[in-house]
Amino acid sequence: MRTNYEAHDIPYRRKKAAGWPGWNSAEEVHDCIQTLNGLLEPLEVASTADVCEIGCGAGNLTDTLADRGWSVTGVDVSNVAIHWARERCRQQNVTFLRGNICERELFAPASFDLIIDGLCLHCIIGEDRDRVISNLSYWLKPGGRIVVFTMCGEPKGKDRAGYDPKSRCAFSGDIAVRYFAKAEEIIDEFRKESLQCTFQQVVDPPNEQASLRALFEKPR
Ligand SMILES: C[S@@+](CC[C@H](N)C(=O)[O-])C[C@H]1O[C@@H](n2cnc3c(N)ncnc32)[C@H](O)[C@@H]1O
Repeated sequence: MRTNYEAHDIPYRRKKAAGWPGWNSAEEVHDCIQTLNGLLEPLEVASTADVCEIGCGAGNLTDTLADRGWSVTGVDVSNVAIHWARERCRQQNVTFLRGNICERELFAPASFDLIIDGLCLHCIIGEDRDRVISNLSYWLKPGGRIVVFTMCGEPKGKDRAGYDPKSRCAFSGDIAVRYFAKAEEIIDEFRKESLQCTFQQVVDPPNEQASLRALFEKPR
């Protein structure tokens, strides 16, 4: 399957020109922050923690992670998004990096105490998924944790556009742009990397896309 992760630049240009705060509307950003805060609540994370947000976009979630005092790195494949994030978020404890999370050399091994997926993983297609989850494990310190917030299940509403049920991917032309994994499949992808699932919840509102919220831990 063909992918073109950098093509996220195109919608980012459009959304910025239209006055959006980032990938999502202000209301959606608010809801994402609430979800993320709920997932972070039970975790005891030291104030000195090194934290990475994959697919940080314009940094709307990264900002709130930085508010906790952690040393935060936001990484995104979109140049437009990273420039936007640098413009918006000027906290001293945040670094933004343009990079593709399929590439292992992006970070040194055991760089982070906590890695956050705020709606990026469903953009990763085919064999890249195993590559990315293996990278997340490699970049995590022993005892480190991963917070996953990702779309799952059959697509609904606008997310059905270009959907092929056989591959479970949504396509834009011949480029696969989203993967609608089953929740249990996503959990297995992490388990294959010896990451222990310590929490999982599927939220499936009638008129919205279902999402998996999950926590994983790398053994010490
Ligand atoms: C749905 S958006 C979410 C953005 C952000 N987390 C937010 O909530 O506003 C998914 C993000 O993942 C990024 N992304 C997709 N594939 C990527 C890859 N291979 N490496 C790094 N970032 C990627 C996209 O550019 C996009 O910014």
